[in-house]
Amino acid sequence: MDLYDVIHSRRDVRAQFTGAPIPDETLQRILEAAHAAPSVGLSQPWDFILIRNPETRAQFHQHVHHEREVFASSLDPVAAERFSHIKIDGILESTLSIAVTYDPARGGPAVLGRHAIADAGLYSVCLAIQNMWLAATAEGLGVGWVSFYREEFLGELLGVPAGIRPVAWLCLGPVTHWETTPDLERHGWRRRRPVEAAVHKERWPAM
Ligand SMILES: Cc1cc2nc3c(=O)[nH]c(=O)nc-3n(C[C@H](O)[C@H](O)[C@H](O)COP(=O)(O)O)c2cc1C
Repeated sequence: MDLYDVIHSRRDVRAQFTGAPIPDETLQRILEAAHAAPSVGLSQPWDFILIRNPETRAQFHQHVHHEREVFASSLDPVAAERFSHIKIDGILESTLSIAVTYDPARGGPAVLGRHAIADAGLYSVCLAIQNMWLAATAEGLGVGWVSFYREEFLGELLGVPAGIRPVAWLCLGPVTHWETTPDLERHGWRRRRPVEAAVHKERWPAM
């Protein structure tokens, strides 16, 4: 696939995972693509935990569904009804889960380019995730990012040392297809903004 095709085909997948195996060489290419991401001060502050154990996944799934209820209870009745139809994860159906973490101490204490913007480390981890997402798409696989969790819970579940932050739980695997429209748009939760609304000339637009 051409890069632009990959970018525009990529979807957040929840319902279309088949559970079919991922060849080792494919997974290796995807992980190497993630690891090739740019990072502030060349800190490469990410780690990737591959989770196949059904018990670990079931425990995480249960926690995510508790957090789903927490979010649902904060919604007004119309939004809650809409949300009730939206699937928010494919933890159990996908082939593999990958937890991505951020180690702010890596490459420190003097991380070149991070002295004024602490979040630059987190930005780097997100770039690794995006590389992974696009590489998986180019390989014909789906990815779903799950963020309905408390960091402390996930850190404890996976034995992540204090100070290292779990940034994402990603569901990965073969899919039946990619939808052409994001799930949230299909379910009437929210529409995408046109690019023209996001691009400004010279300054923030006058209110
Ligand atoms: C940081 C981040 C966290 C997300 N968390 C969730 C999540 O917990 N559950 C979910 O269903 N989708 C999650 N998504 C997917 C978004 O809903 C999705 O990217 C967005 O609706 C646009 O759809 P698309 O990725 O298919 O273009 C997350 C995406 C990002 C970038």
